[in-house]
Amino acid sequence: MNPHLARRAFGGRRLLVGVCGGVAAYKVVETVSELVQAGAEVRVAMTPEATRFVAPLTFEAVSGRPVASDLFRSHPAAGEGGEVHIALSDWPEAVLAAPATANFIAKLAHGLADEIVSTTILASAAPLLLAPAMHHRMWGDPATAANVAALRARGVAFAGPVEGHLASGEVGMGRLTGQDEILRALAGVLPGEGDLAGLRVVVSAGGTREALDPVRYLSNHSSGRMGHALAAAAEARGARVALVTAAEREAPAGVETVRVESAAEMATALERALEGADVLVMAAAVADLRPRERSAVKLAKADLPAALDLDPNPDLLAALPRRAGLTRVGFAAETHDLLAHAQAKLEAKGLDLIVANDVSVPGIGMGSADNAVTILGRQGWRRDVPRAPKEAVADAVLDAVLEVRKSALGRKLES
Ligand code: PMT
Repeated sequence: MNPHLARRAFGGRRLLVGVCGGVAAYKVVETVSELVQAGAEVRVAMTPEATRFVAPLTFEAVSGRPVASDLFRSHPAAGEGGEVHIALSDWPEAVLAAPATANFIAKLAHGLADEIVSTTILASAAPLLLAPAMHHRMWGDPATAANVAALRARGVAFAGPVEGHLASGEVGMGRLTGQDEILRALAGVLPGEGDLAGLRVVVSAGGTREALDPVRYLSNHSSGRMGHALAAAAEARGARVALVTAAEREAPAGVETVRVESAAEMATALERALEGADVLVMAAAVADLRPRERSAVKLAKADLPAALDLDPNPDLLAALPRRAGLTRVGFAAETHDLLAHAQAKLEAKGLDLIVANDVSVPGIGMGSADNAVTILGRQGWRRDVPRAPKEAVADAVLDAVLEVRKSALGRKLES
C-alpha cells in the first residue's frame, strides 16, 4: 500500500494481528511491519503452531511489543494476574488473523477457543478480517466452504485467498492474498467512515490515444499517475469511485475501472459513469486533436501522408453535465502563465475547482511521481500545494472538494 494512504488509514489505530500456523506466517511479519511504519499500534498474538513457523521474537522486533503466544502465561497487556485473552480482546479497533488455516477457520466457525488467538477472537467485539491460506483442496472442501459462509454471515470479512503457487508446489486457489489487498481490506473493516463516504466520485486519467491506424497514434506524456492516485485516495476515504482511464497502469483496488483509448471513448464512458455522481475530477490529458482518417489496416510506409489532416477533439469537460450537487474539478496543464490560464479554463469550462500544474518543471507534472499544484476556485478561493507525492496531492485536491461542497451547502442553507 502506498505509504501516504497507509498512514491515513492506520495512523494511531490499535490493531491486533493473530498469526496462525501456516507456511505463509512469515509473510505476516511484513504486514505487521507495514502497519507499524504506518503509525498503527500493533499487538501480535500467535497460535502455538504459528510459533513453529516463525519465532515470536521476530514479531516482537517488528511490532516493538511483547507477543502473546500462550493462553496461560501472563502478558503485560493483562497486568498482574489479569486474563490475557480478555485484555487483548478489549483493546483493538480491528483484528486481522493470517494466514487463516482451514483448521483455524473451522474453530472460529464453531466457537472453539483452545489457544490464545481463537480465544481472544471469541471474546472480542472488534471487527475481524481473515486472510486465508491453505492447500487448494482444503479451500475447496465443502466443510471449509460452509465454515467460511457461516463466518461471512456473521459479518467476518475475508481478504483472499488467491490463485497461485502453493507450498505443495501446485498452483491453485489457496495462496495468501497480497500485502496490499490485506491492508486495503483491513482499512475497510476499521470502524469510522471516511470523509467521502456516501459520495460517488468519477475520475478520469491518462493521455487519450487517437489512432491513425492500428499501430500508430497521437497522444501525450500523461502516465495516469495523478488520476489513479486520486481514484485510490477517494476510495480510501470511503467514496464509491469510478475511474475512466486511458493509462496502462494497474487499476487501484476497489475502484470500478473503465479502460478507454480515445477521447470519444472517454466521453462515452464518462457520460455513463456520471449518472448519480457527486464529484467529477478530470485529471486526464485528453488529446486536443485526432487524425481525420483512421485506417482499419496498418498503413504501409510508402502510403503515409507527408502531413496529417487533423480534427479537433471536442472539449469533454465543457460538454459534460453541469447540475446542482455535482462538483466539477478540472486540471490545467501549463508551461507558462500558469494561474492566468488556469483561471480562464475554470471559467470557460464552468468548473468549481481547477488544479493548476506546471508541466514544464522537471520532477513534477506529467509522468513523475510528484506534483506541485495551485488549486483555484470561484470568488478568489485558492490553495497552494507544494511539491509532494501525487498521493498526497490527491488528498489535498479531495480536501478542497469537500471544502467547496461544504461552503456551497452553507450558501444554499443561508439563501
Ligand atoms: O498522468 P500524469 O503523468 O500523472 O500527469 C498528470 C497530468 C499533468 C496529466 C495532470 O495533472 C493534468 O494536468 N491533467 C490535465 C491535462 C490537460 O489536458 O490539461 P488541459 O489544460 O489541456 O485541459 C484542461 C482540462 O480540460 C483538463 O481537466 C482536461 O481533462 C480537460 N479537457 C481537455 C481537453 C479536451 N479535449 N477535453 C477535456 O475535457
